[in-house]
Amino acid sequence: MVTVFRNIGQLATCPPGAPQQDAGLIDNAALVFADNLVEWVGEEHQLPARFAGQESIDCGGRLVTPGLIDCHTHLCFGGWRGDEFEMRLQGRSYQEIAAAGGGIRSTVAATRSSSIEQLTEKALKALEQIRDLGITTLECKSGYGLERLSELKQLQVYRRLDEQQAVELVPTFLGAHMVPDEYQQRRSEYIDLLCQQLIPEVAEQELAQFCDIFVEQGAYSVSEARQILSAAKGAGLKIKVHADQLSCGGGAQLAAEFGAVSAEHLEYADEAGIQALERAGTVAVSLPLASLYLRERYLPAREMLNAGVRVAVATDFNPGSAPSFHLPLAMTLACINQQMTPQEVLMGATSVAARAIAAEHRIGSLLPGFAADIAVFDVPAVNHWLYHFQANACCGLLKSGRWQKKLF
Ligand code: NIG
Ligand code: FE
Repeated sequence: MVTVFRNIGQLATCPPGAPQQDAGLIDNAALVFADNLVEWVGEEHQLPARFAGQESIDCGGRLVTPGLIDCHTHLCFGGWRGDEFEMRLQGRSYQEIAAAGGGIRSTVAATRSSSIEQLTEKALKALEQIRDLGITTLECKSGYGLERLSELKQLQVYRRLDEQQAVELVPTFLGAHMVPDEYQQRRSEYIDLLCQQLIPEVAEQELAQFCDIFVEQGAYSVSEARQILSAAKGAGLKIKVHADQLSCGGGAQLAAEFGAVSAEHLEYADEAGIQALERAGTVAVSLPLASLYLRERYLPAREMLNAGVRVAVATDFNPGSAPSFHLPLAMTLACINQQMTPQEVLMGATSVAARAIAAEHRIGSLLPGFAADIAVFDVPAVNHWLYHFQANACCGLLKSGRWQKKLF
């Protein structure tokens, strides 16, 4: 079936591979999609005559963009950590709380003790609200199990949810989030378990597309990470790295060394790390909500963009460092605190985010042949949207050409 969107105030096509500052904006535009793919975009007055008479939707002068992509979340977890929020506000640091047994460890305990049904129901509730904001694709990590069955349980939640609802899920194995308590005195045994059993099993069952690792003091060292990432690459998983979040520890260079698709956080990345990411073509994923909540520095986006590194923007949704799944809020923060322009940020949550999950050839852009993942926002233009923050400006959404929301 062919559908024509007319009277689009501003259409952001977000071409893959374009300079990030240019979101491919077309004013007074039209867009045509046939079944699940975009067929034509351009200025409305140039709409080919062959589309006359097809079903048409009047967009009322609104902004139309590709469905947003949140390329970094920890969607599935047990419990919350509101008590730690208060402790951090009273002056205790994220690292201190973690060292005292809180932080990721406390979420591991709550996730291990939750059933697959409880975890699925909880994640689904969040996912429905996430979709409502205009998100059509979401990367989601394990990493709160840190033992065979609980890690597999998180990945199975993602498989179930992917079948049950419309937001496309891209699962990542993060068994190397922390070393679990029971292995603290024998770290190498946990690393062997990851490399010899869990990574091959996850890859074999196609439960994840990516393998991620947290490289940081208190988590994994660069040399431990080399072992784990080698096993992941060998098993055919693509690579992501949580790098240089709380200190500059060579994480960016490590991500580049392994040809990682993306490196995440990078708040403390230095010049050498930025150069390494540029040479490797690794996407830098900025997580401004984590900086906001931890009252930490922000990723040096301007230095990265000037050096030719692409910068995606994502939420990092998790119960500790970023207890919010509000991607448009993260986008506005990236403008204000990272001096990214609204167009750069929009690219960061569409085509560059697609690149961060190795899907830039099929989603994240509204050009002929791309998926008809389309978001309509009740604003006239991208500048207006990211400056006038609203609880939810999304008033229309399609995933693969199917309506998920239509309020206009
Ligand atoms: O991306 N940095 C490591 N992991 C998560 C935080 C997880 C948590 O606090 O539960 C992050 O910020
Ligand atoms: Fe994260």
